[in-house]
Amino acid sequence: MTSTLCWSLLLYSLLISRIFCHDDDYLTFPEGFRIGAAGASYQIEGGWNASDKGDSVWDNFTHREPWRIVDNSNGDIACDSYHKYKEDVKWLKEIGLDHYRFSLSWSRILPTGYADKVSENGIRYYKNLIDELLRNNIEPLVTLYHWDHPQVIEEQGGWMNDMIVKWFGDYARVVFRELGPKVKIFATINEPNSFCTEGYEDGCKAPGKQLAPTGGYMCGHNVLKAHARAYHIYDREFRKSQNGKIGIVIPCGGQIAKNPGDNASVETSFQFGCGWMAHPIFSKTGDYPEVMKRNIDRNSKNEGYPRSRLPKFSPNWIKYIRGTSDYFGLNHYTTFEVSRRTKKPDDVWGLDSGLEKSVDPSWPRTASAWLRVTPFGFGDILRQIKDEYQNPPVYILENGVSDSGTLNDHQRIGYFYSYLKELITAVKRDGCNVPLYTMWSLLDNFEWNRGYTERFGILHVDFNSSNRTRTPKLSVDWWKNVLRTRKLQPVTEYW
Ligand SMILES: *[C@@H]1O[C@H](CO)[C@@H](O)[C@H](O)[C@H]1NC(C)=O
Ligand SMILES: *[C@@H]1O[C@H](CO)[C@@H](O)[C@H](O)[C@H]1NC(C)=O
Ligand SMILES: *[C@@H]1O[C@H](CO)[C@@H](O)[C@H](O)[C@H]1NC(C)=O
Ligand SMILES: *[C@@H]1O[C@H](CO)[C@@H](O)[C@H](O)[C@H]1NC(C)=O
Ligand SMILES: *[C@@H]1O[C@H](CO)[C@@H](O)[C@H](O)[C@H]1NC(C)=O
Repeated sequence: MTSTLCWSLLLYSLLISRIFCHDDDYLTFPEGFRIGAAGASYQIEGGWNASDKGDSVWDNFTHREPWRIVDNSNGDIACDSYHKYKEDVKWLKEIGLDHYRFSLSWSRILPTGYADKVSENGIRYYKNLIDELLRNNIEPLVTLYHWDHPQVIEEQGGWMNDMIVKWFGDYARVVFRELGPKVKIFATINEPNSFCTEGYEDGCKAPGKQLAPTGGYMCGHNVLKAHARAYHIYDREFRKSQNGKIGIVIPCGGQIAKNPGDNASVETSFQFGCGWMAHPIFSKTGDYPEVMKRNIDRNSKNEGYPRSRLPKFSPNWIKYIRGTSDYFGLNHYTTFEVSRRTKKPDDVWGLDSGLEKSVDPSWPRTASAWLRVTPFGFGDILRQIKDEYQNPPVYILENGVSDSGTLNDHQRIGYFYSYLKELITAVKRDGCNVPLYTMWSLLDNFEWNRGYTERFGILHVDFNSSNRTRTPKLSVDWWKNVLRTRKLQPVTEYW
Protein backbone atom coordinates (compact mmCIF):
# COMPACT_ATOMS: atom_id res chain seq x y z
CA MET A 1 0.00 0.00 0.00
CA THR A 2 2.69 2.41 1.08
CA SER A 3 4.89 1.46 -1.80
CA THR A 4 2.02 1.83 -4.28
CA LEU A 5 1.37 5.28 -2.88
CA CYS A 6 5.08 6.02 -3.15
CA TRP A 7 5.16 4.89 -6.74
CA SER A 8 2.10 6.87 -7.65
CA LEU A 9 3.51 9.92 -5.98
CA LEU A 10 6.79 9.49 -7.80
CA LEU A 11 5.02 8.97 -11.13
CA TYR A 12 2.78 11.90 -10.43
CA SER A 13 5.67 14.20 -9.64
CA LEU A 14 7.58 12.98 -12.68
CA LEU A 15 4.54 13.70 -14.80
CA ILE A 16 4.09 17.14 -13.27
CA SER A 17 7.73 18.01 -13.71
CA ARG A 18 7.63 16.76 -17.28
CA ILE A 19 4.61 18.87 -18.08
CA PHE A 20 6.05 21.74 -16.13
CA CYS A 21 9.51 21.56 -17.71
CA HIS A 22 8.03 21.14 -21.13
CA ASP A 23 5.77 24.12 -20.57
CA ASP A 24 8.62 26.04 -19.03
CA ASP A 25 10.54 25.93 -22.30
CA TYR A 26 7.80 27.96 -23.92
CA LEU A 27 7.76 30.55 -21.16
CA THR A 28 11.42 31.51 -21.28
CA PHE A 29 12.62 33.82 -24.03
CA PRO A 30 15.40 32.55 -26.27
CA GLU A 31 18.93 33.73 -25.51
CA GLY A 32 19.54 37.28 -26.75
CA PHE A 33 15.87 37.97 -27.53
CA ARG A 34 15.14 41.71 -27.50
CA ILE A 35 11.98 43.33 -26.16
CA GLY A 36 10.88 46.92 -26.65
CA ALA A 37 7.93 49.27 -26.92
CA ALA A 38 6.62 51.47 -29.72
CA GLY A 39 4.93 54.76 -30.50
CA ALA A 40 4.44 56.93 -33.61
CA SER A 41 5.01 60.62 -34.29
CA TYR A 42 1.48 61.93 -34.87
CA GLN A 43 0.05 59.74 -32.12
CA ILE A 44 2.36 60.93 -29.35
CA GLU A 45 4.47 63.99 -30.19
CA GLY A 46 2.13 66.96 -30.25
CA GLY A 47 4.10 70.11 -31.06
CA TRP A 48 2.12 70.16 -34.28
CA ASN A 49 3.12 73.75 -35.06
CA ALA A 50 6.38 73.93 -33.09
CA SER A 51 9.20 75.85 -34.71
CA ASP A 52 9.07 75.66 -38.52
CA LYS A 53 7.18 72.35 -38.78
CA GLY A 54 4.89 72.04 -41.81
CA ASP A 55 1.37 70.61 -41.63
CA SER A 56 0.92 66.89 -42.14
CA VAL A 57 -2.15 65.25 -43.65
CA TRP A 58 -3.23 64.34 -40.12
CA ASP A 59 -3.00 67.98 -38.95
CA ASN A 60 -5.10 68.99 -41.91
CA PHE A 61 -7.60 66.12 -41.63
CA THR A 62 -8.30 66.50 -37.89
CA HIS A 63 -8.60 70.30 -38.16
CA ARG A 64 -10.66 70.24 -41.33
CA GLU A 65 -13.03 67.45 -40.36
CA PRO A 66 -12.92 67.05 -36.57
CA TRP A 67 -16.17 65.05 -36.63
CA ARG A 68 -14.26 62.19 -38.26
CA ILE A 69 -12.68 61.51 -34.86
CA VAL A 70 -15.11 59.95 -32.35
CA ASP A 71 -14.24 62.34 -29.53
CA ASN A 72 -13.51 65.29 -31.87
CA SER A 73 -9.92 65.24 -30.67
CA ASN A 74 -6.63 65.58 -32.55
CA GLY A 75 -2.90 65.14 -32.07
CA ASP A 76 -2.05 68.84 -31.56
CA ILE A 77 -0.64 68.02 -28.14
CA ALA A 78 -1.25 64.25 -27.86
CA CYS A 79 1.17 62.91 -25.18
CA ASP A 80 3.33 66.02 -25.62
CA SER A 81 6.32 63.79 -26.20
CA TYR A 82 7.82 66.63 -28.23
CA HIS A 83 8.49 68.25 -24.86
CA LYS A 84 8.42 65.20 -22.58
CA TYR A 85 10.67 62.78 -24.46
CA LYS A 86 13.12 62.59 -21.56
CA GLU A 87 10.36 61.37 -19.29
CA ASP A 88 9.40 58.74 -21.88
CA VAL A 89 12.98 57.49 -21.94
CA LYS A 90 13.06 57.43 -18.16
CA TRP A 91 10.05 55.12 -18.20
CA LEU A 92 11.57 52.84 -20.87
CA LYS A 93 14.65 52.53 -18.70
CA GLU A 94 12.72 51.99 -15.50
CA ILE A 95 10.59 49.23 -17.05
CA GLY A 96 13.73 47.57 -18.39
CA LEU A 97 13.02 47.65 -22.13
CA ASP A 98 15.77 46.98 -24.69
CA HIS A 99 14.57 49.18 -27.53
CA TYR A 100 12.18 51.96 -28.44
CA ARG A 101 10.45 52.12 -31.79
CA PHE A 102 9.33 55.62 -32.78
CA SER A 103 8.59 57.34 -36.07
CA LEU A 104 9.73 60.60 -37.62
CA SER A 105 7.42 63.37 -38.69
CA TRP A 106 8.32 64.07 -42.32
CA SER A 107 6.94 67.61 -42.11
CA ARG A 108 8.94 68.34 -38.95
CA ILE A 109 12.17 67.40 -40.75
CA LEU A 110 11.26 68.86 -44.17
CA PRO A 111 8.84 71.76 -43.51
CA THR A 112 8.20 72.35 -47.23
CA GLY A 113 7.73 68.62 -47.81
CA TYR A 114 10.71 68.58 -50.19
CA ALA A 115 14.40 68.31 -49.47
CA ASP A 116 15.17 71.93 -50.37
CA LYS A 117 15.21 72.86 -46.70
CA VAL A 118 16.01 70.73 -43.67
CA SER A 119 14.65 71.97 -40.35
CA GLU A 120 17.45 72.37 -37.83
CA ASN A 121 15.05 72.20 -34.92
CA GLY A 122 13.28 69.17 -36.35
CA ILE A 123 16.54 67.26 -36.71
CA ARG A 124 17.70 68.44 -33.29
CA TYR A 125 14.57 67.02 -31.64
CA TYR A 126 15.22 63.55 -33.04
CA LYS A 127 18.95 63.72 -32.33
CA ASN A 128 18.19 64.63 -28.72
CA LEU A 129 15.76 61.73 -28.42
CA ILE A 130 18.26 59.28 -29.92
CA ASP A 131 21.07 60.53 -27.67
CA GLU A 132 18.85 60.25 -24.62
CA LEU A 133 18.00 56.65 -25.56
CA LEU A 134 21.62 55.69 -26.18
CA ARG A 135 22.72 57.28 -22.90
CA ASN A 136 20.25 54.95 -21.21
CA ASN A 137 21.33 51.92 -23.20
CA ILE A 138 18.08 51.69 -25.15
CA GLU A 139 18.32 50.99 -28.85
CA PRO A 140 16.42 53.35 -31.18
CA LEU A 141 14.33 51.71 -33.95
CA VAL A 142 13.38 54.47 -36.35
CA THR A 143 10.38 54.36 -38.70
CA LEU A 144 10.57 56.95 -41.47
CA TYR A 145 6.89 57.05 -42.26
CA HIS A 146 3.95 56.24 -40.00
CA TRP A 147 1.09 57.82 -42.03
CA ASP A 148 1.76 61.56 -41.53
CA HIS A 149 3.18 62.84 -44.82
CA PRO A 150 3.28 66.59 -45.50
CA GLN A 151 0.01 68.19 -46.60
CA VAL A 152 1.81 69.91 -49.50
CA ILE A 153 2.78 66.50 -50.84
CA GLU A 154 -0.88 65.54 -50.60
CA GLU A 155 -1.78 68.64 -52.60
CA GLN A 156 0.24 67.00 -55.39
CA GLY A 157 -1.76 63.80 -55.01
CA GLY A 158 0.19 62.19 -52.17
CA TRP A 159 0.47 58.44 -52.63
CA MET A 160 -1.52 58.73 -55.90
CA ASN A 161 1.34 60.55 -57.61
CA ASP A 162 4.33 58.39 -58.52
CA MET A 163 6.64 61.36 -57.96
CA ILE A 164 6.27 60.43 -54.29
CA VAL A 165 8.69 57.60 -55.03
CA LYS A 166 11.40 60.23 -55.57
CA TRP A 167 10.19 62.61 -52.85
CA PHE A 168 10.19 59.81 -50.29
CA GLY A 169 13.67 58.81 -51.44
CA ASP A 170 14.89 62.41 -50.98
CA TYR A 171 13.44 62.49 -47.47
CA ALA A 172 14.98 59.09 -46.65
CA ARG A 173 18.41 60.29 -47.79
CA VAL A 174 18.20 63.29 -45.42
CA VAL A 175 17.21 60.98 -42.56
CA PHE A 176 20.02 58.48 -43.21
CA ARG A 177 22.58 61.29 -43.49
CA GLU A 178 21.44 63.10 -40.33
CA LEU A 179 20.38 60.26 -38.04
CA GLY A 180 21.92 57.14 -39.59
CA PRO A 181 25.27 57.35 -37.78
CA LYS A 182 23.51 56.49 -34.50
CA VAL A 183 20.64 54.29 -35.71
CA LYS A 184 21.14 50.61 -36.52
CA ILE A 185 17.57 49.63 -37.39
CA PHE A 186 15.40 51.61 -39.79
CA ALA A 187 11.88 50.84 -40.97
CA THR A 188 10.72 52.62 -44.11
CA ILE A 189 6.92 52.57 -44.20
CA ASN A 190 4.45 51.41 -41.59
CA GLU A 191 1.44 49.27 -42.57
CA PRO A 192 0.84 50.31 -46.19
CA ASN A 193 -2.18 47.97 -46.30
CA SER A 194 -3.88 50.05 -43.60
CA PHE A 195 -3.27 53.61 -44.77
CA CYS A 196 -3.72 52.78 -48.44
CA THR A 197 -7.20 51.33 -47.93
CA GLU A 198 -8.30 53.72 -45.18
CA GLY A 199 -6.74 56.87 -46.63
CA TYR A 200 -7.28 56.32 -50.38
CA GLU A 201 -10.07 53.74 -50.65
CA ASP A 202 -12.81 54.16 -48.04
CA GLY A 203 -11.35 57.50 -46.90
CA CYS A 204 -12.03 57.08 -43.20
CA LYS A 205 -8.48 58.13 -42.29
CA ALA A 206 -6.27 60.98 -43.53
CA PRO A 207 -6.11 62.19 -46.22
CA GLY A 208 -9.74 61.04 -46.41
CA LYS A 209 -9.90 60.21 -50.13
CA GLN A 210 -12.63 57.86 -51.32
CA LEU A 211 -11.04 56.38 -54.40
CA ALA A 212 -12.31 52.77 -54.36
CA PRO A 213 -11.90 50.52 -56.24
CA THR A 214 -8.58 51.78 -57.65
CA GLY A 215 -6.98 54.18 -55.14
CA GLY A 216 -5.85 51.61 -52.58
CA TYR A 217 -3.99 49.54 -55.17
CA MET A 218 -2.40 52.64 -56.71
CA CYS A 219 -1.21 53.71 -53.26
CA GLY A 220 0.23 50.26 -52.55
CA HIS A 221 2.00 50.28 -55.91
CA ASN A 222 3.74 53.58 -55.18
CA VAL A 223 4.53 52.49 -51.61
CA LEU A 224 6.39 49.41 -52.85
CA LYS A 225 8.41 51.55 -55.27
CA ALA A 226 9.12 54.24 -52.66
CA HIS A 227 10.14 51.65 -50.08
CA ALA A 228 12.48 49.97 -52.56
CA ARG A 229 14.01 53.31 -53.53
CA ALA A 230 14.73 54.16 -49.89
CA TYR A 231 16.23 50.68 -49.42
CA HIS A 232 18.52 51.08 -52.42
CA ILE A 233 19.58 54.55 -51.30
CA TYR A 234 20.55 53.10 -47.93
CA ASP A 235 22.26 50.17 -49.60
CA ARG A 236 24.30 52.23 -52.06
CA GLU A 237 25.10 55.36 -50.09
CA PHE A 238 25.01 54.51 -46.38
CA ARG A 239 25.17 50.82 -45.56
CA LYS A 240 28.93 50.60 -45.77
CA SER A 241 29.56 53.39 -43.29
CA GLN A 242 26.49 52.91 -41.08
CA ASN A 243 26.16 49.15 -41.17
CA GLY A 244 22.51 49.06 -40.10
CA LYS A 245 19.42 47.13 -41.15
CA ILE A 246 16.42 48.43 -43.03
CA GLY A 247 13.03 46.88 -43.75
CA ILE A 248 9.31 47.47 -44.21
CA VAL A 249 6.47 46.98 -41.69
CA ILE A 250 3.56 44.81 -42.86
CA PRO A 251 0.35 44.19 -40.92
CA CYS A 252 -0.56 40.51 -41.10
CA GLY A 253 -3.74 39.52 -39.33
CA GLY A 254 -4.36 35.86 -38.59
CA GLN A 255 -7.00 33.95 -40.53
CA ILE A 256 -8.63 30.61 -39.92
CA ALA A 257 -11.19 28.75 -42.00
CA LYS A 258 -14.76 29.33 -40.87
CA ASN A 259 -15.66 26.03 -42.50
CA PRO A 260 -13.22 23.31 -41.48
CA GLY A 261 -11.00 22.23 -44.36
CA ASP A 262 -11.53 25.41 -46.38
CA ASN A 263 -7.76 25.95 -46.67
CA ALA A 264 -8.15 27.69 -50.01
CA SER A 265 -9.93 30.63 -48.36
CA VAL A 266 -7.21 30.89 -45.73
CA GLU A 267 -4.52 30.95 -48.42
CA THR A 268 -6.37 33.57 -50.52
CA SER A 269 -6.97 35.72 -47.46
CA PHE A 270 -3.28 35.55 -46.52
CA GLN A 271 -2.26 36.62 -50.03
CA PHE A 272 -4.76 39.52 -50.18
CA GLY A 273 -3.58 40.78 -46.78
CA CYS A 274 0.01 39.97 -45.90
CA GLY A 275 0.94 38.91 -49.42
CA TRP A 276 -0.08 42.16 -51.13
CA MET A 277 3.00 43.88 -49.68
CA ALA A 278 5.11 40.84 -48.73
CA HIS A 279 5.07 38.83 -51.96
CA PRO A 280 6.73 41.54 -54.10
CA ILE A 281 9.54 41.85 -51.54
CA PHE A 282 10.01 38.45 -49.89
CA SER A 283 8.91 35.79 -52.40
CA LYS A 284 11.31 34.05 -54.79
CA THR A 285 9.57 35.45 -57.87
CA GLY A 286 8.63 38.93 -56.70
CA ASP A 287 5.56 40.85 -57.98
CA TYR A 288 2.04 40.60 -56.55
CA PRO A 289 0.66 37.20 -55.51
CA GLU A 290 -0.80 35.20 -58.43
CA VAL A 291 -4.24 35.03 -56.85
CA MET A 292 -4.40 38.83 -56.57
CA LYS A 293 -3.39 39.35 -60.18
CA ARG A 294 -5.80 36.66 -61.39
CA ASN A 295 -8.84 37.84 -59.42
CA ILE A 296 -8.37 41.57 -59.95
CA ASP A 297 -7.57 41.22 -63.67
CA ARG A 298 -10.70 39.10 -64.14
CA ASN A 299 -12.96 41.37 -62.09
CA SER A 300 -11.69 44.51 -63.83
CA LYS A 301 -12.42 42.96 -67.22
CA ASN A 302 -15.92 41.93 -66.17
CA GLU A 303 -16.56 45.42 -64.81
CA GLY A 304 -15.60 46.94 -68.16
CA TYR A 305 -12.27 48.54 -67.30
CA PRO A 306 -9.85 48.74 -70.23
CA ARG A 307 -7.04 47.57 -67.94
CA SER A 308 -6.66 45.91 -64.56
CA ARG A 309 -7.40 47.95 -61.43
CA LEU A 310 -4.20 46.40 -60.03
CA PRO A 311 -1.32 48.31 -61.64
CA LYS A 312 1.38 46.25 -63.33
CA PHE A 313 5.08 46.31 -62.49
CA SER A 314 7.56 46.15 -65.35
CA PRO A 315 10.17 43.36 -65.08
CA ASN A 316 12.70 45.99 -64.00
CA TRP A 317 10.52 47.18 -61.15
CA ILE A 318 9.84 43.60 -60.07
CA LYS A 319 13.58 43.06 -59.84
CA TYR A 320 14.18 46.44 -58.18
CA ILE A 321 11.64 45.69 -55.41
CA ARG A 322 12.39 42.02 -54.74
CA GLY A 323 14.70 41.41 -51.79
CA THR A 324 14.56 44.98 -50.47
CA SER A 325 14.21 44.20 -46.79
CA ASP A 326 16.82 43.04 -44.31
CA TYR A 327 14.05 41.74 -42.05
CA PHE A 328 10.29 41.14 -42.14
CA GLY A 329 8.69 43.85 -39.97
CA LEU A 330 5.44 42.38 -38.65
CA ASN A 331 2.54 44.08 -36.91
CA HIS A 332 0.01 41.62 -35.55
CA TYR A 333 -3.00 42.08 -33.29
CA THR A 334 -5.85 39.71 -34.04
CA THR A 335 -7.39 36.97 -36.16
CA PHE A 336 -10.62 36.57 -38.10
CA GLU A 337 -12.46 33.70 -39.74
CA VAL A 338 -12.69 33.60 -43.50
CA SER A 339 -15.15 31.90 -45.80
CA ARG A 340 -16.26 32.17 -49.39
CA ARG A 341 -18.39 35.23 -49.90
CA THR A 342 -22.13 34.71 -49.85
CA LYS A 343 -23.36 38.31 -49.95
CA LYS A 344 -22.47 41.32 -52.07
CA PRO A 345 -19.32 42.84 -50.63
CA ASP A 346 -19.17 46.47 -49.56
CA ASP A 347 -15.39 46.73 -49.77
CA VAL A 348 -12.69 46.16 -52.36
CA TRP A 349 -11.08 43.40 -50.30
CA GLY A 350 -14.31 41.39 -50.31
CA LEU A 351 -14.96 42.16 -53.98
CA ASP A 352 -11.58 40.98 -55.21
CA SER A 353 -10.72 38.22 -52.74
CA GLY A 354 -14.17 36.68 -53.05
CA LEU A 355 -14.14 36.17 -49.29
CA GLU A 356 -15.88 37.47 -46.23
CA LYS A 357 -14.53 37.92 -42.73
CA SER A 358 -16.25 37.07 -39.46
CA VAL A 359 -15.35 36.39 -35.86
CA ASP A 360 -16.27 33.60 -33.51
CA PRO A 361 -18.53 35.26 -30.91
CA SER A 362 -16.74 33.32 -28.16
CA TRP A 363 -13.44 35.15 -28.80
CA PRO A 364 -12.95 37.72 -25.99
CA ARG A 365 -13.72 41.33 -26.91
CA THR A 366 -11.49 44.31 -26.18
CA ALA A 367 -12.02 48.09 -26.22
CA SER A 368 -11.51 48.03 -30.01
CA ALA A 369 -14.30 46.55 -32.13
CA TRP A 370 -11.83 45.08 -34.62
CA LEU A 371 -9.64 43.39 -32.00
CA ARG A 372 -10.47 40.05 -30.38
CA VAL A 373 -8.07 38.14 -28.17
CA THR A 374 -6.95 35.27 -30.43
CA PRO A 375 -3.41 34.15 -29.53
CA PHE A 376 -3.55 31.00 -31.70
CA GLY A 377 -3.57 33.18 -34.82
CA PHE A 378 -0.20 34.71 -33.86
CA GLY A 379 1.59 31.36 -33.97
CA ASP A 380 -0.18 30.52 -37.24
CA ILE A 381 0.93 33.71 -38.97
CA LEU A 382 4.54 33.27 -37.84
CA ARG A 383 4.57 29.75 -39.28
CA GLN A 384 2.90 30.94 -42.50
CA ILE A 385 5.54 33.65 -42.97
CA LYS A 386 8.30 31.12 -42.31
CA ASP A 387 6.92 28.65 -44.87
CA GLU A 388 5.96 31.22 -47.49
CA TYR A 389 9.13 33.35 -47.51
CA GLN A 390 12.00 30.99 -46.61
CA ASN A 391 12.10 31.83 -42.92
CA PRO A 392 13.23 35.47 -42.96
CA PRO A 393 14.17 37.17 -39.69
CA VAL A 394 10.85 38.52 -38.41
CA TYR A 395 10.90 41.60 -36.21
CA ILE A 396 7.62 41.99 -34.33
CA LEU A 397 7.16 45.77 -34.45
CA GLU A 398 3.64 46.02 -33.02
CA ASN A 399 1.47 43.77 -30.88
CA GLY A 400 -0.90 44.80 -28.13
CA VAL A 401 -4.44 45.40 -26.94
CA SER A 402 -6.68 48.33 -25.99
CA ASP A 403 -8.55 49.31 -22.84
CA SER A 404 -11.00 52.13 -22.15
CA GLY A 405 -8.99 53.94 -19.51
CA THR A 406 -8.35 51.59 -16.63
CA LEU A 407 -5.17 51.22 -14.58
CA ASN A 408 -6.06 47.63 -13.72
CA ASP A 409 -5.37 46.20 -17.13
CA HIS A 410 -5.74 42.49 -16.34
CA GLN A 411 -6.83 41.75 -19.88
CA ARG A 412 -3.63 43.28 -21.29
CA ILE A 413 -1.46 41.08 -19.06
CA GLY A 414 -3.39 37.99 -20.17
CA TYR A 415 -3.10 39.10 -23.79
CA PHE A 416 0.67 39.55 -23.65
CA TYR A 417 1.11 36.28 -21.78
CA SER A 418 -0.86 34.21 -24.26
CA TYR A 419 0.52 35.88 -27.39
CA LEU A 420 4.11 35.72 -26.20
CA LYS A 421 3.73 32.06 -25.31
CA GLU A 422 2.63 31.46 -28.92
CA LEU A 423 5.64 33.41 -30.12
CA ILE A 424 8.15 31.52 -27.99
CA THR A 425 6.60 28.22 -29.09
CA ALA A 426 6.83 29.23 -32.75
CA VAL A 427 10.51 30.01 -32.25
CA LYS A 428 11.58 27.08 -30.07
CA ARG A 429 9.36 24.32 -31.40
CA ASP A 430 8.78 25.36 -35.02
CA GLY A 431 12.05 27.11 -35.82
CA CYS A 432 10.58 30.50 -36.69
CA ASN A 433 13.28 33.15 -36.86
CA VAL A 434 12.05 35.90 -34.51
CA PRO A 435 14.78 37.73 -32.59
CA LEU A 436 12.83 40.82 -31.54
CA TYR A 437 9.44 41.84 -30.14
CA THR A 438 7.93 45.29 -29.75
CA MET A 439 4.76 45.93 -27.81
CA TRP A 440 2.26 48.56 -28.88
CA SER A 441 2.50 50.73 -27.00
CA LEU A 442 4.48 52.54 -24.33
CA LEU A 443 1.90 55.30 -23.90
CA ASP A 444 -1.84 55.69 -24.30
CA ASN A 445 -2.01 57.86 -27.41
CA PHE A 446 -4.07 59.33 -30.23
CA GLU A 447 -5.68 56.23 -31.71
CA TRP A 448 -6.55 57.79 -35.09
CA ASN A 449 -10.34 57.92 -35.65
CA ARG A 450 -10.91 56.57 -32.15
CA GLY A 451 -9.18 59.58 -30.62
CA TYR A 452 -8.28 59.00 -26.97
CA THR A 453 -11.09 56.49 -26.35
CA GLU A 454 -9.09 53.34 -27.09
CA ARG A 455 -5.89 53.06 -25.09
CA PHE A 456 -3.05 50.72 -25.97
CA GLY A 457 -0.45 51.99 -23.49
CA ILE A 458 1.15 50.18 -20.59
CA LEU A 459 1.45 53.73 -19.24
CA HIS A 460 -1.82 55.57 -18.72
CA VAL A 461 -1.77 59.18 -19.94
CA ASP A 462 -4.09 61.82 -18.49
CA PHE A 463 -5.11 63.80 -21.56
CA ASN A 464 -7.13 66.19 -19.41
CA SER A 465 -4.08 67.41 -17.52
CA SER A 466 -1.80 69.96 -19.18
CA ASN A 467 0.99 67.86 -17.66
CA ARG A 468 -0.10 64.77 -19.65
CA THR A 469 0.76 62.81 -16.52
CA ARG A 470 2.00 59.25 -17.15
CA THR A 471 0.86 56.61 -14.64
CA PRO A 472 1.93 52.97 -14.84
CA LYS A 473 -0.84 50.45 -15.33
CA LEU A 474 -0.75 47.05 -13.62
CA SER A 475 0.89 45.56 -16.72
CA VAL A 476 4.01 47.65 -16.07
CA ASP A 477 4.58 45.63 -12.92
CA TRP A 478 4.14 42.37 -14.84
CA TRP A 479 6.48 43.52 -17.61
CA LYS A 480 9.19 44.55 -15.13
CA ASN A 481 9.23 40.99 -13.77
CA VAL A 482 9.22 39.50 -17.25
CA LEU A 483 12.08 41.70 -18.40
CA ARG A 484 14.12 41.04 -15.27
CA THR A 485 13.73 37.25 -15.52
CA ARG A 486 13.36 37.01 -19.32
CA LYS A 487 10.51 34.65 -18.63
CA LEU A 488 6.71 34.97 -18.84
CA GLN A 489 5.41 35.37 -15.31
CA PRO A 490 2.16 33.79 -14.10
CA VAL A 491 -0.80 36.07 -14.66
CA THR A 492 -3.02 34.75 -11.88
CA GLU A 493 -1.53 37.00 -9.21
CA TYR A 494 -2.54 39.98 -11.34
CA TRP A 495 -6.19 38.92 -11.50
C1 LIG B 1 0.19 76.51 -32.20
O1 LIG B 1 -1.13 76.03 -32.09
C2 LIG B 1 -1.77 76.38 -30.88
C3 LIG B 1 -3.12 75.70 -30.88
O2 LIG B 1 -2.93 74.31 -30.86
C4 LIG B 1 -1.89 77.88 -30.77
O3 LIG B 1 -2.47 78.22 -29.52
C5 LIG B 1 -0.50 78.50 -30.87
O4 LIG B 1 -0.60 79.90 -30.90
C6 LIG B 1 0.21 78.03 -32.14
N1 LIG B 1 1.59 78.48 -32.10
C7 LIG B 1 2.18 79.03 -33.13
C8 LIG B 1 3.61 79.39 -32.97
O5 LIG B 1 1.58 79.22 -34.19
C1 LIG C 1 -5.92 71.77 -45.50
O1 LIG C 1 -5.10 71.91 -46.63
C2 LIG C 1 -5.64 72.76 -47.63
C3 LIG C 1 -4.71 72.73 -48.79
O2 LIG C 1 -3.42 73.12 -48.42
C4 LIG C 1 -5.80 74.17 -47.09
O3 LIG C 1 -6.38 74.99 -48.07
C5 LIG C 1 -6.68 74.12 -45.88
O4 LIG C 1 -6.73 75.38 -45.29
C6 LIG C 1 -6.14 73.10 -44.86
N1 LIG C 1 -7.11 73.01 -43.79
C7 LIG C 1 -6.78 73.05 -42.51
C8 LIG C 1 -7.89 73.04 -41.54
O5 LIG C 1 -5.60 73.05 -42.13
C1 LIG D 1 -5.66 22.46 -44.02
O1 LIG D 1 -5.29 23.25 -42.92
C2 LIG D 1 -5.18 22.53 -41.72
C3 LIG D 1 -4.96 23.51 -40.60
O2 LIG D 1 -3.90 24.38 -40.88
C4 LIG D 1 -4.05 21.51 -41.88
O3 LIG D 1 -3.92 20.76 -40.70
C5 LIG D 1 -4.34 20.60 -43.06
O4 LIG D 1 -3.25 19.75 -43.28
C6 LIG D 1 -4.62 21.39 -44.30
N1 LIG D 1 -5.07 20.52 -45.36
C7 LIG D 1 -4.57 20.57 -46.57
C8 LIG D 1 -5.20 19.64 -47.57
O5 LIG D 1 -3.65 21.32 -46.89
C1 LIG E 1 -11.53 64.14 -19.36
O1 LIG E 1 -12.33 64.18 -18.19
C2 LIG E 1 -13.69 63.92 -18.41
C3 LIG E 1 -14.44 64.13 -17.08
O2 LIG E 1 -13.82 63.38 -16.05
C4 LIG E 1 -13.86 62.50 -18.93
O3 LIG E 1 -15.21 62.22 -19.19
C5 LIG E 1 -13.08 62.38 -20.24
O4 LIG E 1 -13.13 61.05 -20.69
C6 LIG E 1 -11.64 62.78 -20.03
N1 LIG E 1 -11.00 62.82 -21.33
C7 LIG E 1 -9.86 62.21 -21.53
C8 LIG E 1 -9.33 62.29 -22.93
O5 LIG E 1 -9.24 61.63 -20.68
C1 LIG F 1 3.36 66.34 -13.69
O1 LIG F 1 4.13 65.21 -14.13
C2 LIG F 1 5.14 64.83 -13.25
C3 LIG F 1 5.91 63.71 -13.88
O2 LIG F 1 5.06 62.67 -14.30
C4 LIG F 1 4.54 64.44 -11.92
O3 LIG F 1 5.57 64.10 -11.03
C5 LIG F 1 3.75 65.61 -11.37
O4 LIG F 1 3.10 65.23 -10.18
C6 LIG F 1 2.71 66.07 -12.35
N1 LIG F 1 2.03 67.27 -11.88
C7 LIG F 1 0.71 67.42 -11.94
C8 LIG F 1 0.18 68.74 -11.47
O5 LIG F 1 -0.04 66.57 -12.37
